[in-house]
Amino acid sequence: MRVDVVTVFPQYLAPLELSLIGRARQRGILDVAVHDLRDWTHDVHRTVDDSPAGGGAGMIMRPEPWGEAFDALADPANPPRLLVPSPAGVPFRQAMAVELAAEPHLMFACGRYEGIDQRVIDHAAAHMPVTEVSLGDYVLFGGEVAVLVILEAVTRLIPGVLGNAQSLDDESHNAGLLESPSYTKPAVWRGREVPEVLLSGHHARIERWRRDQSLLRTARRRPELLAGLPPDALDAADRAT
Ligand code: ADE
Repeated sequence: MRVDVVTVFPQYLAPLELSLIGRARQRGILDVAVHDLRDWTHDVHRTVDDSPAGGGAGMIMRPEPWGEAFDALADPANPPRLLVPSPAGVPFRQAMAVELAAEPHLMFACGRYEGIDQRVIDHAAAHMPVTEVSLGDYVLFGGEVAVLVILEAVTRLIPGVLGNAQSLDDESHNAGLLESPSYTKPAVWRGREVPEVLLSGHHARIERWRRDQSLLRTARRRPELLAGLPPDALDAADRAT
């Protein structure tokens, strides 16, 4: 997968060198390029923002550098999918991560200040698929951290990126529910014991216990997730919990 990120703070994306994403890049599974939006400005101050049309507080990103950046990075014959992180976007969920993991080319436009001139998004949408995407109902300084989050969620779904593909299997098996608590050694720590069933070696009982913990956690913490599950998602044993 090719990924282009356009930002006025390229250093913010430095973590993309690290850990599993860094390793995927070294191994050629991911081709990530981070670009400074100011490289597409032409004035001495390398200006990217201006006051909002119609008045109001804050600054808006001017369209011209964005237009040139997209012209340089998007092949019209093979356009990327453009993602624009914004608190006004559609919610980012695991289902979108799965969808994005199948794309050959993603491009991210990181807005700062009070956002990007809407014509940038409207113009891009005439040439490529565009999604304005929100991480949640809170406001960040800009899109950079959102890009890190989205890329982490997406790239771990690409075959070969994650060391242990079994964990992806386990996740999809538990789709729509929160994960059960996990434990490791020692069996007793500061007087607290690992739940006895997990040490029993009884595979079916362990699976049942994990499933029950997932159901209980989800009911307590995210009842709306339980309510939204498809009718066949819970069997009779689940309903007994
Ligand atoms: N940019 C600013 N706030 C954001 C949010 N909540 N999600 C995605 N991008 C953002």
